[in-house]
Amino acid sequence: MNPVSEQHARVLSGMRPTGRLHLGHHHGVLQNWVALQHEYDCYFFVADWHALTTHYDDPTIIPESVWDMVIDWLAAGIDPDKAKLFIQSRVPEHAELHLLLSMITPLGWLERVPSYKDQQEKLKERDLATYGFLGYPLLQAADILIYRAGLVPVGEDQVAHVELTREVARRFNHIYGKEKGFEEKAQAAMKKMGKKSARLYSRQRIAYQEQGDHSALEAARNLLESQQNLSLDDRERLFGYLEGSGRQILPEPQPLLTKASKMPGLDGQKMSKSYQNTISLRAKPESVEKALRTMPTDTNRVRRTDPGEPSRCPVWQFHEVYSTEETKRWVQEGCRTAGIGCIECKQPVIEEVLKELRPIQERAREFEGQPELVRTIIDEGSEAARHQARETLTEVRQAMSLVYR
Ligand code: TRP
Ligand code: SF4
Repeated sequence: MNPVSEQHARVLSGMRPTGRLHLGHHHGVLQNWVALQHEYDCYFFVADWHALTTHYDDPTIIPESVWDMVIDWLAAGIDPDKAKLFIQSRVPEHAELHLLLSMITPLGWLERVPSYKDQQEKLKERDLATYGFLGYPLLQAADILIYRAGLVPVGEDQVAHVELTREVARRFNHIYGKEKGFEEKAQAAMKKMGKKSARLYSRQRIAYQEQGDHSALEAARNLLESQQNLSLDDRERLFGYLEGSGRQILPEPQPLLTKASKMPGLDGQKMSKSYQNTISLRAKPESVEKALRTMPTDTNRVRRTDPGEPSRCPVWQFHEVYSTEETKRWVQEGCRTAGIGCIECKQPVIEEVLKELRPIQERAREFEGQPELVRTIIDEGSEAARHQARETLTEVRQAMSLVYR
C-alpha cells in the first residue's frame, strides 16, 4: 500500500508521560487502543516534548514517567508486534514538520484554541506565556500529519486540536498542492484507472461537488484506495481533485472520540490523579483491597441496621462496572432492606478488581524485569515510525521548494 491509501487504515495517538497509569486510563484509553491495534495500523507514542510545554522547569521526572507509562501500556495488552510504540523525541521529523507548518499557521488559529486560555487559567502557578505552549496544538498537528494518519483516538478535550490539524492540512494543500496544469494532470491520472473506474470516479466527484453528496465522496475515496496502478503523485492529485483544485499532500485526519470512561474514582467522582482517588494499575493487592474496603458509602447509612440507597453510593458505581445482573440485584435489595452490610457489599467488587489487575500486574512484572526488552521495543518502534515520517517529510520539503540539487 502506498501512504495515501494507507491513510484510512492508520491510527495515531499520543499520551503525555504522566507516570504510572490507573484503572481510569485502563477503562478509557488503553482498552480502546488494545481493540484498535487488531483492526488498524496503529502508532502510539509518548509525547515527551508535549510534557515540556508545561513542565519545562522540572523535566527530571520525565524519563522515569516515560518508562513507567510504556510498561503500563504493555501490561495493559498493547502488543508491540501489532502497534508501533515510540517516543516523540526519538523521531525528530515531528519537529521539522512543526517548524515548517508554523510558517503557514496564522497566530489567531492558535490563540483561539480553547485549551490555550483554559490551561493558562487552570495552571496559574506555572508560567505558560511561552512560545512552546502557544504552539503545542500545532506540534500535535505535526505529530498526526507526519504519519498521514486517518484516525486519531482522543478524548473530548482534544477534538479541537484535531480540528486545527484539519485546517492546517487544508491550508498546506491549498498553498503547496497547486501545480501547473493540475486539471490536465488529474484527467490523465483518471485515465490510468481504466474506463469503468474513471467513469465511476468522475460521476462520484460531480455528485459530491454539485450536490454535496458525502456518501459519493466516501465511495470515490474507497475507489481510489483500491487502485493498484496509480503512482503516489497521481493518487494525491485524484484525492485532491475530488474536493478541490490541488494535490492532497497532507490528508485531513478524523477524530475518533474515545467514550468517556465509566470508571469512577474511590470517592465517586471521575477517577483522576488530581482528585487522589485512583487505583494504580500496579498497586499492591493489599492496598487495593484496603482502598476499596475503606472507600465511602451512602452517608445516610450510619449503622448496619440503617437501610441505604445504592444511587447515592460510590460502591454502586463500581458494581455497575464490574458486577453481573445477579450481583447487582443482590446489592439493590440487600442495601435497601439493610439485609447486607457495606463490607459484604464491597467484597465482590474487591474480587473483580483484583481479578482484572492480576494479569496486568503479571505482565508489568515481566517487563519491569527486562528493561532491555522494553528499550528494544521502543527502539524498533521509533525506527519504524521514523521511516514513515521521513517519507512524508521528503514530500513536504519538495512541496515547499526545499530541495537543493
Ligand atoms: N495533547 C495530547 C494530550 O494532552 C497528547 C498528544 C500529543 C496527542 N500529540 C498527539 C494525542 C497526537 C493525539 C494525537 O492528551
Ligand atoms: Fe453502598 Fe453497598 Fe453499603 Fe449500599 S450496601 S451503601 S450500595 S456499600
